Amino acid sequence: MSNLEALNQTFIDIFNHPVERHFFSPGRINLIGEHTDYNGGHVFPCAITIGTYGLVSIREDKLVQCYSTNMADTGVITFSLDELEKNEEVSWINYVIGMLKYVQASTKPFTHGFNLVIEGNIPNGAGLSSSASLEMLIGTIADEIYHLELDRVKMVKLGQQVENKFIGVNSGIMDQFAIGMGQAEQAMFLDVNTLDFQYIPAEFGDYRILIMNTNKRRELADSKYNERRSQCEAALAQLKTELTINSLGDLDNETFDANRNLINDPILAKRAKHAVYENTRTIEAKALLQAGELEKFGKLLNASHISLRDDYDVTGIELDTLVESAWSHQEVLGARMTGAGMGGCAIALVHKDAIDEVSAAIRSDYTEKVGYAPSFYIAQVGDGSKELTV
Ligand code: GLA
Repeated sequence: MSNLEALNQTFIDIFNHPVERHFFSPGRINLIGEHTDYNGGHVFPCAITIGTYGLVSIREDKLVQCYSTNMADTGVITFSLDELEKNEEVSWINYVIGMLKYVQASTKPFTHGFNLVIEGNIPNGAGLSSSASLEMLIGTIADEIYHLELDRVKMVKLGQQVENKFIGVNSGIMDQFAIGMGQAEQAMFLDVNTLDFQYIPAEFGDYRILIMNTNKRRELADSKYNERRSQCEAALAQLKTELTINSLGDLDNETFDANRNLINDPILAKRAKHAVYENTRTIEAKALLQAGELEKFGKLLNASHISLRDDYDVTGIELDTLVESAWSHQEVLGARMTGAGMGGCAIALVHKDAIDEVSAAIRSDYTEKVGYAPSFYIAQVGDGSKELTV
């Protein structure tokens, strides 16, 4: 709690007013099911205990005043609930403005504003969804302080709309879903077509999920992401000339293989193959985790990475070095990139007694090859966005 105490003090220093309510919204990792969410497939993410804190006091006027300790150089940013328009100068505040705009539009007019201090401990640019974490934090704050009783899945969908329409990144629903719906010790197996989902215990026996951060900024990531998405759409359109399907997630591996020749471009065919095979792997991985078959589960993580490297082409030297170095240890059951890729983080399933030794060896391989050090964290699977009782 000492971090929160320091943050309470920051709040008083800035707003000259005590904190009234505390909120938390997690980051996420995805166990498997990468780049399947916008292809009508399955994903298998969990919320983690690192995330974004939000401290709030109610105002009587209609202003919202925000300060982020992670973005201290932008100072306190003020806007009115009557003018929820995009800020062209300060990009992070748009997650706050966008979420308030979309939640208000789908519920009722907000009659008063609030003061907000934000602090996140998700490493910057790590691909652990700091943006979805902030969106769902704001959704949760609005839900509680305006007594909206907003359905969580509706809040999740609003978060995705903010990302797609207000921010302009054409992402799927996985991140907001994992963050909004997370539960401690549970992974979520989600069918993106129907939004049917199941909580599956994230139990790894003597193994732990080690998060390995490339510390590479994901600079060109958004344009490459949008490009992959259109490549999959183009491949789907060609498959649809003969097949009655709505998405790549409707295909099993055999049907895809038998019809692959409908796709006239080998690059598009590789992208589509990844989407189909990754969906199949995700369904299998969920059953294996439920059955406690960790070795087989780990092998699917490896196959997922290889497919993301060779067919989807979203890994890069940094993620490949981390993952391939992890594979060389017998105490590692599997490893793969997690999230959008192109920098960001990978995960490895590592025996709990070998974590220090394995991370030291990976650190040394990586530093030698890439020229700077990676970072490591043990993933703890935590709750979704919520108000804290302190
Ligand atoms: C990003 C997007 C998600 C998903 C992953 C890749 O995290 O926000 O919707 O597409 O990439 O699986």
